Amino acid sequence: MHAGGAARLRTVTLAVLTLSLTAAATGCGNDSGGQGGEVTVGIALPTRKQTRWIADGNNMEKLFKEQGYKTDKQYADDSVDKQVEQVEEMIDRGDKLLIIGAVDGFELGDALQKAARAGVKVIAYDRLLLGSSNVDYYASFDNYAVGKLQARYIIDKLGLKKGGNAGPYNIELFAGDANDNNVRGFFSGAMDQLDEFIKDGQLEVPSQQMRLSQVTTYKWQAEIARETMTTRLDDFYKGGSTVDAVLAPNDGIARGLIEALKKHDYGTAAKPMPIITGQDAETESVNEIIAGEQSMTVYKDTRKLAEVAVKMAQDILSGKQPEINNREGNDNGNKVVPAYLLAPVSVDKSNYKKLLVDSGYIKASDLN
Ligand code: GAL
Repeated sequence: MHAGGAARLRTVTLAVLTLSLTAAATGCGNDSGGQGGEVTVGIALPTRKQTRWIADGNNMEKLFKEQGYKTDKQYADDSVDKQVEQVEEMIDRGDKLLIIGAVDGFELGDALQKAARAGVKVIAYDRLLLGSSNVDYYASFDNYAVGKLQARYIIDKLGLKKGGNAGPYNIELFAGDANDNNVRGFFSGAMDQLDEFIKDGQLEVPSQQMRLSQVTTYKWQAEIARETMTTRLDDFYKGGSTVDAVLAPNDGIARGLIEALKKHDYGTAAKPMPIITGQDAETESVNEIIAGEQSMTVYKDTRKLAEVAVKMAQDILSGKQPEINNREGNDNGNKVVPAYLLAPVSVDKSNYKKLLVDSGYIKASDLN
């Protein structure tokens, strides 16, 4: 599914957007005050720590309201117990469909079973729900492509070539929360690119922390990543050796890493910042990209993801077959969940204006 997947996804996405725009323009389907009636959709999201999740929630709420649906939106503050409780309450309140961005994809099995018994359909949002057959659809981005974009950026900026003899450059690797299913996709997408350069010696990992189990970051906490980076810099970068690139899985963690690096005098003429990746195109990190501290981020347009999820929900609720563009790639251990995956995009100093500002994703006035 991955080779050439991004281009294919982009084409499909455009087609879907064109279709829905046409539908909106001709008023077909959704006019006369929407079609939701008294139907309430439950939206269970994991956290408010990353601003993207706040945007996800607001975007879906807005779209559902426009279609005449009621919404019941809850944030779990990264707590599994809280999310289980929230989802069960949604079912008890009679919500007709659930959209769930899981704190821990494995921990909602009982709640999902309860949903199935009550005839409530479930869409896994952004993160796949695992180990349960009671998941109807999955709406997300191509997570493998996210990691691939991060790694390709590092490879290009360092000028690494197959069979070349650049470097050796020092790299440190980080990943997100071990219980977030996306993390496996992000990390393998990146390592499938980086591995050959580690093997042929163009890249070196002084800390030797290279396996996913060694580099995950509990609940994506930036402070933890900052501490880990501090330890690695203290222990493995002595006698003038410096880190040239850091695989950071998302913007929050990238900001934590940048703090640790600055404390170690990186970001000066004598010791420039390493190449640092990111994900989510958060305003704070785009400002760091403009300031030359973070190198890139992976932009996942949460407005489009919300559109996909809301359209899916509407189709399911009106007995239609939702549009799918990935049928086989998302096995949750119990079921292959039919999915619609959007393509992520690499953003840096050279294209953030066009991609983020001109598209209205970030306001120019919020940027430095
Ligand atoms: C992932 C998500 C990323 C990022 C991260 C931290 O599951 O796909 O976009 O937000 O969680 O919350």
